[in-house]
Amino acid sequence: MTDNKETVRKLITNGGKTPLCFLHSFGCRQNVSDGEKILGLLCDIGYGVTEDITAADLIIYNTCAVREGAELKVYSLVGNLKNLKKKKPELIIGLCGCMAQQEKTVEKIKKSYPYVDIVFGTFALEKLPELLYKVLIERKQAVDIGEYSTEFPEDIRPVRTDRLNASVPIMYGCNNFCSYCIVPYVRGRERSRRPEAVIAEVKELADSGCKEIMLLGQNVNSYGNTLDEKINFSELLRRINDIDGDFRVRFMSSHPKDATKELIDTIIDCDKICKHLHLPLQSGSDRILAAMNRKYTAEKYMETVNYARSRIPDFSFSTDIIIGFPNETAEDFADTMKIVRQVKYDNIFSFIYSKRTGTRAAGMEDLTSDEEKKARMKELLEVQREISSGNFKRFIGRTLTVLFDSDDGDGIFSGKSDEFIIVRAEADSSVIGTVRKVRITKSFNWALQGEII
Ligand code: SAH
Ligand code: SF4
Ligand code: F3S
Repeated sequence: MTDNKETVRKLITNGGKTPLCFLHSFGCRQNVSDGEKILGLLCDIGYGVTEDITAADLIIYNTCAVREGAELKVYSLVGNLKNLKKKKPELIIGLCGCMAQQEKTVEKIKKSYPYVDIVFGTFALEKLPELLYKVLIERKQAVDIGEYSTEFPEDIRPVRTDRLNASVPIMYGCNNFCSYCIVPYVRGRERSRRPEAVIAEVKELADSGCKEIMLLGQNVNSYGNTLDEKINFSELLRRINDIDGDFRVRFMSSHPKDATKELIDTIIDCDKICKHLHLPLQSGSDRILAAMNRKYTAEKYMETVNYARSRIPDFSFSTDIIIGFPNETAEDFADTMKIVRQVKYDNIFSFIYSKRTGTRAAGMEDLTSDEEKKARMKELLEVQREISSGNFKRFIGRTLTVLFDSDDGDGIFSGKSDEFIIVRAEADSSVIGTVRKVRITKSFNWALQGEII
């Protein structure tokens, strides 16, 4: 392989010029993190990185398969590349990530998008240099969706696209098989990284000035289950909290079936951990939760929320909700709305159910109409808008800790508070990349405004 890597390096840098790659990751933070590893591999063989797609010698779309909409978007973008490839026959086009891990995608690309040069799935990430070799030497489409293995690419150094706010995967894959979800099929079984590897990465990021670290896993609450060492997620959080440095820590996602009091206590006790929990509800109906294979009830979910609120009365929660799971009735939806009103989330990410081939729910008959689903979504969004605007008022007069990362124009800058709420303030560009205390003076239904002290 090393020889092939050298050959690829020679071929792409022919004439001494640095070839450029453009990579875009869709989907979740885990996928964005994989994209950073792919950039690491590419830079290692001699590519430079560009954000201008027309200047690129290699274009890679790192795709998501979680809903049909995500897939359609990629097909449309790949379709648009046909003309670019005509003008620039040397251009190499690659498709990778969760969508590319599926046989049906490989078939479709072979049949309808023959100008795509490389297709590689999440199991074959580290094979990219080998695939480039095939394309450059043999000049034909190279496909590898890999054999599932329990290994993961521990030795690839990511090229981080955001140094302020970095992602650190603590585990890969998922064992939960929620009946609607494609993730376990395209990411394989759950496996945890060793705590020493996670801690070394966090230390290095903290030392290099990173201010926020997001720990990633499809269910961080089962961290450690595949390790010989006896360690759970709360213990990992405590060890990370003990690392010296001026940074804060978030994590996602946390499965309600495995959320414990110990986890809530750890969040509250550790000063570097943000006091916010993203706890995906999906549905408030026990009947639908069972059909979804979520393994908790609305009551168990509320126990976690109530425990957190017994320790911090306005503890911040956000959630994911699926509307229109097969045969969700008006009553089931009312159960979801009941929980939404009880919890008073600071933020909700809601999705209309999308049938995913190969999952258990794909075989379920569904009699609920699209109109009904859209009406439920509208109702959820309206109620949540009211809840957020009511919720956010509680911060007026309080001082929040904000990591500024965005210039909104007209002298207004914004960032996220520990509670994961957008906070805006008048400032100058020196505020970007710094953590500031902000006294809140005004609230909207989507953000807060205040003065930096
Ligand atoms: N592992 C994470 C979520 C991964 S997918 C967790 O369990 O929370 C992110 C979100 O997409 C899910 O929480 C769910 O709300 C949504 N989702 C997953 N599959 C979906 C589907 N088939 N249709 C609609 N939404 C879906
Ligand atoms: Fe999908 Fe469920 Fe796994 Fe999350 S926990 S990735 S929703 S199967
Ligand atoms: Fe993430 Fe989408 Fe894959 S949500 S794990 S990129 S299917």
